[in-house]
Amino acid sequence: MKKLVVANWKMNPVSLDLGRKIFMSIEHRMHLAKNTEAVICPPSLFLPAFSHYSAKVKLGAQNLSWEEQGAFTGEISPLMVKAFKTDYAILGHSERRLFFGETDSMVAFKLYAALKHKLIPIVCLGGEKNAKKDDMKKLVAKQFKAVTRQIEKKDLHRIVFVYEPVWAISTMKNSEPATGEHANELVEYIHELAGVNSHVLYGGTVNKNNVQQFAKYPMIDGALVGAASLDPDNFWQIIKEFERESIHRG
Ligand code: 13P
Repeated sequence: MKKLVVANWKMNPVSLDLGRKIFMSIEHRMHLAKNTEAVICPPSLFLPAFSHYSAKVKLGAQNLSWEEQGAFTGEISPLMVKAFKTDYAILGHSERRLFFGETDSMVAFKLYAALKHKLIPIVCLGGEKNAKKDDMKKLVAKQFKAVTRQIEKKDLHRIVFVYEPVWAISTMKNSEPATGEHANELVEYIHELAGVNSHVLYGGTVNKNNVQQFAKYPMIDGALVGAASLDPDNFWQIIKEFERESIHRG
């Protein structure tokens, strides 16, 4: 199974030109990565512009509606993102939960819709207001059960899960990255919940300086990267580290 490194640009950069430069800078280097796939999730407005160049870098949306079309002001249909060569969609991100009131049951609907439309969902687990560092297994188990409740067991392997504790996101108040050991423990736990052939990433302040701490664990299948993904050199070093570890292990 290839490693997967996903860039979540969030609401950045504000200029399409700069976005294109960052995108191309990664795209040009991806022929050097044999065992690692890169996904860039830009603001949805940029998807049409990037869909022309997305051979080596895959595209992802940062959010999705569970509806296909209709009177849903401000929402983005899975059919619309699919039309622009978008293969992935981040669902249930902590910022959607904390700032926009997304609940487990909304994420469950979105997940069902993503699979129905043959998108690969990247489902974040570990985000909830006042999440307690020493009780993350309980939170992850609760969210996992709730968001996958409409999904058949045989389809779980089509989902990429991410352990992304809200307190480790670089832009959150008093943020603190997880240790590699903690990340690995929770990633292993999600593998147990999701079963064989599951794909589980870690997210939360991953950057070129600390990526080794996470990439060295074979169960961590890649990373979901926020701030560092807007700096192509930083993002590329993260891809290279996962690549190096996977080649090293054969
Ligand atoms: P940072 O890498 O900036 O901590 O963001 C993580 C994240 O929220 C990715 O989805």
